[in-house]
Amino acid sequence: MSRFDEIIDRRDSDSEKWRKYAGRDILPLWVADMDFAAPPAVLAALHRRIEHGVLGYGGPWPSLVASVLAHLESEYDWQIEAEWIVWLPGLVTGLNVACRAVEGDVLTATPIYPPFLSAPRLSGRALHRVELAFDGRWHWDKSALETASTATTRLFLLCHPHNPVGRCWSRDELSMLADYAERHDLVVCSDEIHCGLVLDQDKRHIPFASLSPETARRTITLMAPSKTFNIPGLGCAFAVIADPALRRAFIRAQQGIVPHVNVLGLAAGEAAYRHGSEWHAELLDYLRGNRERVIVAVDAEKGVKMGPVEATYLAWIDVRELGLADPAAHFEAHGLGLSNGADFGAPGWLRLNFGCPRATLDEALLRFSRGCRAA
Ligand SMILES: Cc1ncc(COP(=O)(O)O)c(C=O)c1O
Repeated sequence: MSRFDEIIDRRDSDSEKWRKYAGRDILPLWVADMDFAAPPAVLAALHRRIEHGVLGYGGPWPSLVASVLAHLESEYDWQIEAEWIVWLPGLVTGLNVACRAVEGDVLTATPIYPPFLSAPRLSGRALHRVELAFDGRWHWDKSALETASTATTRLFLLCHPHNPVGRCWSRDELSMLADYAERHDLVVCSDEIHCGLVLDQDKRHIPFASLSPETARRTITLMAPSKTFNIPGLGCAFAVIADPALRRAFIRAQQGIVPHVNVLGLAAGEAAYRHGSEWHAELLDYLRGNRERVIVAVDAEKGVKMGPVEATYLAWIDVRELGLADPAAHFEAHGLGLSNGADFGAPGWLRLNFGCPRATLDEALLRFSRGCRAA
């Protein structure tokens, strides 16, 4: 038995994921957190921090910063300087701050995690979209990309690995995007929150900014231990910005509205980076098994399909051929709560979060099959 098989009841907890369907027999496989306890080393660090007793204002300390630097170097062969780091309470905050820091229109690729669509609007920026292409596998449509950015486009919001399509962008694809950003003089804000969740063993996450010093100069990288170690409720994230002028603009845009990272998030982050690797390897193994179950279940049904999930614990499923007026409501009526593709700019698609114990997933997949057959 794996530690990830344990069912921890979240029904009457603070969980956003489970509270949505409180009192109804609907399994929530929507918002992107996992139903797993955090790594033991993280929980121990939190206990130690609580036992100290005083929870005043805090900030990052040298060994925490060193753990981030060491993690980025060992996992991604990416060397950064400590002063390039700007701590944040979350990546969505980072996306919104980036939109405010860079003057001009914003470009992003759809389907996409909804805050990429709302951040430009909330920041008073025009948004241009380019559709990713799907032919059984998701990829960039280079000619669509060329016409998507206008003379006033200044910021490109990149999701890498991509939520919801699950691609871990390759070096060739990233180099094509870096060349594109150079030619159109774009700042790239690369949201790499899922970087620790590459499931394919023949693939590696390559930070966009690590491609070259020129690319680093135009990049705001957003990262966090939150998805990988399942601690998103602790609100600990950071931006890496090599260029001093861009970093100053980013810091200026967050002044007065972005709070400190809370001290528990910082303590958890250091423990995760320093002592989380064994748990992390087990997690990836477990998620690979879950991914396989999802593929088998989707393949078995007529009228539904999905591309390979190279990274993340999210399956992006095309249900358009089922001909449902409201696919998310239909599956809820069959006891399964999925994310609605319309929110990602893609009506007719659903996102299924397979970061849960196998017993939960198996029941959810049974409900999925019933829902497909009843369509
Ligand atoms: C691509 C992406 N960015 C950001 C977030 C949320 O980040 P945070 O909770 O740190 O704001 C998510 C959560 O699902 C995500 O998938």
